[in-house]
Amino acid sequence: MSNEPFKDLFKESEIFSNREMLSPHYIPHNLLFRDKQINEIVKYMTPSLRGERGRNLFIYGKTGTGKTSCMKLIVEKLRSLPVTKARISYINCRIYNSRYRVLYKIVSDYLPLYAKRGYGIVDIYERIINWVDEDGKVLVVVLDEIDVVKDLDDLIYTLTRANSDIKAGGITIVGISNRVSFKDSLDPRSLSTLYENELIFPSYNSNELATIIQDRVAGGFKNGVVDPAAVNLAAAIAAKDSGDARLALKIISKAGEIADENGGKKVTVQEVGEAAKVAEEEIAYELINTLPEHQKLIVYAVALLSIQGTKYKRLSNDGENYIFSGDVYSKYENIAQSMQKEPKSARWYRKYITDLDMQGIITTYESGKGIRGHTKLIKLAYPPEKIKNTIETGMAKEANG
Ligand SMILES: Nc1ncnc2c1ncn2[C@@H]1O[C@H](COP(=O)(O)OP(=O)(O)OP(=O)(O)O)[C@@H](O)[C@H]1O
Ligand SMILES: [Mg+2]
Repeated sequence: MSNEPFKDLFKESEIFSNREMLSPHYIPHNLLFRDKQINEIVKYMTPSLRGERGRNLFIYGKTGTGKTSCMKLIVEKLRSLPVTKARISYINCRIYNSRYRVLYKIVSDYLPLYAKRGYGIVDIYERIINWVDEDGKVLVVVLDEIDVVKDLDDLIYTLTRANSDIKAGGITIVGISNRVSFKDSLDPRSLSTLYENELIFPSYNSNELATIIQDRVAGGFKNGVVDPAAVNLAAAIAAKDSGDARLALKIISKAGEIADENGGKKVTVQEVGEAAKVAEEEIAYELINTLPEHQKLIVYAVALLSIQGTKYKRLSNDGENYIFSGDVYSKYENIAQSMQKEPKSARWYRKYITDLDMQGIITTYESGKGIRGHTKLIKLAYPPEKIKNTIETGMAKEANG
């Protein structure tokens, strides 16, 4: 075999100097426009660092506003401080998505020998309490994407209750979420526990996004390759959509890949335009696959009805095909039941629809008086076939994993 098929493998890119800096896994150490938020978080944590139990904190902000990045930076900084009584556990609830898994993660962070032995929840709980109690530690539990924890009320209750079992020191919670309707799903008791303090991460505007992109372009692309107009366009697109830095960076990095593939030497507004389309779709599919279960089933129901046929469709004023909200709800109930899951009530369903609309996954519209009186009409923002495949692939993975 000749070396021909591999010839591009080690060819140096004309576009990128350090692709790593543009990867979604890269943790930036220079977080622009977030000094205020970082200072606030540290301020809330100060009592814990002094060995007093602080108050719980809830952080809200839309996707890509830097919540996880800020928190990781803070955790890293705190770990490098001289030893204090404070311990901090950063927990990604997408992975540790139940009370048991969260407690288990805390134990494996700090008592790894114990964690190997596979104890039940009561033992793990007691082990944590004793460990905190033995020298009055203060444990800060950071629950990122807290909304995906299945038995969240139980978890919050357990962590709070621990404070009455602990004689010295204590546990504080920092919850992070990007879901607007999350508050409504909590028990009033958990709500007042978690929201002792609240901090909001605002979305980035176009100028801020341009600076964030430029900073990463300087490290990740070769000098002079990226047109300033290309940076501004990527920023404007992401700002208009959502103010999401992840999207902004994804667009510029895809634009770089497109230029690379075409053997170009420049990243211009043209590559950014192409990249934006791809990036927005990719982000939408990722978002759909990470939706809470019932919201995902609702999106699935809309996709199936959109594909299935004209019986459910109704032409709106703008000539687009919409689907009756009531039909979506029935379809969703059927799907949930066929999966042995209890469907959520119509009240919940309406909340979810509002959420999905806000996230740009569906668009809704109120019909005037018509055959069925006032009703909501729903349409997917992306091709139904693709959404159907995305969700089915995701579910198959979950079933096997
Ligand atoms: N202020 C910033 N400066 C530089 N890069 C940033 C900044 N904010 C966000 N980013 C970049 O955007 C990406 C997304 O940020 P991050 O994961 O922190 O968002 P998030 O608020 O946690 O979003 P989600 O709600 O989806 O979890 C990060 O990978 C980071 O590279
Ligand atoms: Mg995050």
